[in-house]
Amino acid sequence: MVTLKSPREIEMMTESGQLLASIHVALRDFIKPGVTTMEIDQFVEEKIREAGGIPAQIGYEGYEYATCTSVNDEICHGFPSDYELKQGDIVKVDFCIDLDGAISDSCWCYAVGEISEEHQTLMDVTKECLYRGIEQAQVGNRIGDIGAAIQEYAESKGFGVVRDFIGHGIGPSIHEAPQVPHYGIAGKGKRLKEGMTITIEPMITTGTWQMTMDDNGWTARTRDGGYCAQYEHSIAITADGPVLMTDQETVH
Ligand code: MF3
Ligand code: CO
Repeated sequence: MVTLKSPREIEMMTESGQLLASIHVALRDFIKPGVTTMEIDQFVEEKIREAGGIPAQIGYEGYEYATCTSVNDEICHGFPSDYELKQGDIVKVDFCIDLDGAISDSCWCYAVGEISEEHQTLMDVTKECLYRGIEQAQVGNRIGDIGAAIQEYAESKGFGVVRDFIGHGIGPSIHEAPQVPHYGIAGKGKRLKEGMTITIEPMITTGTWQMTMDDNGWTARTRDGGYCAQYEHSIAITADGPVLMTDQETVH
């Protein structure tokens, strides 16, 4: 069932989201060659707790870390580890915060040092996919409008759209109805209503979107070893248009 949130609830989720966004802003300088993905995880967890929040991914369906840190061909749910990031890598850092019961969820993709032109294009196109999806998150539009806008743009650039993981409703739990695929047909699917809070989080690949699952049962990676980028915002659908609750531009 899709739950609609009150303006007060959206305000609280935005507080949570702004804490999350401020940590992503801090990660821009923290992530460089030689840093391990476990160090990223610890940095994020410390900042969440310092601000009185709870790293909401710990314990979620048995997940053990504050963050998912997915490198290069890892699509999502990469485990933080002693892997040292090196020049040319890209790393997606995805985490959720519970601040006074309000949940937010946002993933951002970071280049480690200089990266190849192809991977820079992948990152740029993926971010553009996110914003094209957000543009469709309007009262009266349908879920399919979001996916269609993303798919059309990604495929026009020759990239793949991951099918196995999708956006979702959010708050009070991390994953709620509705499902928000990053592919689809314009004009199809549930109608978007004022007060819906959802994530849009396209995972875009240089080659095939098909995945394999690691033995850990969590980490998905591309079947062909191509790189995957991802950006995610938590969004509220309002009469005034989509509100980016995890917007990094509005962090003060
Ligand atoms: N933050 C992820 C998302 O965007 C949730 C990961 S589930 C977890 O939906 F178990 F890994 F936390
Ligand atoms: Co999400």
